[in-house]
Amino acid sequence: MVELLPSILSADFAHLADQVAAAERGGGTAIHVDVMDGHFVPNITIGPPVVKWLRKATKLPLDCHLMIENPDEFIPAFAEAGADWVSVHYEACRHLHQSLDLIAQHGMKPGVVVNPATGVELLREILPMVHHVLVMSVNPGFGGQEFIEFSLDKIRRLVELRQELGLAFRIEVDGGVAHDTVERIVQAGAELLVAGNAVFGAGQPERDARALLAAARTAAGE
Ligand code: DX5
Ligand code: ZN
Repeated sequence: MVELLPSILSADFAHLADQVAAAERGGGTAIHVDVMDGHFVPNITIGPPVVKWLRKATKLPLDCHLMIENPDEFIPAFAEAGADWVSVHYEACRHLHQSLDLIAQHGMKPGVVVNPATGVELLREILPMVHHVLVMSVNPGFGGQEFIEFSLDKIRRLVELRQELGLAFRIEVDGGVAHDTVERIVQAGAELLVAGNAVFGAGQPERDARALLAAARTAAGE
């Protein structure tokens, strides 16, 4: 079942609760929260205090995508703030197995993220530990970038690996998910679709979430 995860990176932060509510009415089933530290990626966004207030504003799961160095140091604070899913970058974790363990120990669903240049084969050993694999289809840091086409091959390879290993992790894609790409993305096998600009960019999150989700469901034959 394909799901839409609105990314608040492109939302109006002065009206965050309203924006999240509108995206939920449009069919969003989890809220994607981009956490950036200005080191791992060339941008700074938000952290646990905002997650804490989002937690009070919506019942939807909060999917926290950590684009930060030393993520282990902050995992307890995200748990405390009410994060549900936490994903860490393969490229940011010196001891990825331990980081994923730490997320699970704090009662959250662990995910692993790969940058465009990182192959999914590298994840084989830790796939049994994850709730979701997040394929970055742009270089992380900013919303509104162009979808990188070879991400589709990585999604297809993950579908094969999941089958081969008999696992059930979800496949999530982030970056450039929009009307002109969503059909190919869904047909490649992604199920959790993160979208920032396509949902919030025109200032009509309910309408635009609904339209994007409808296109995704059609492409999935749902
Ligand atoms: C980018 C973030 C994304 C971002 C996607 O580094 O991880 O979640 O919001 O934005 P769009 O959907 O605009 O490409
Ligand atoms: Zn993200």
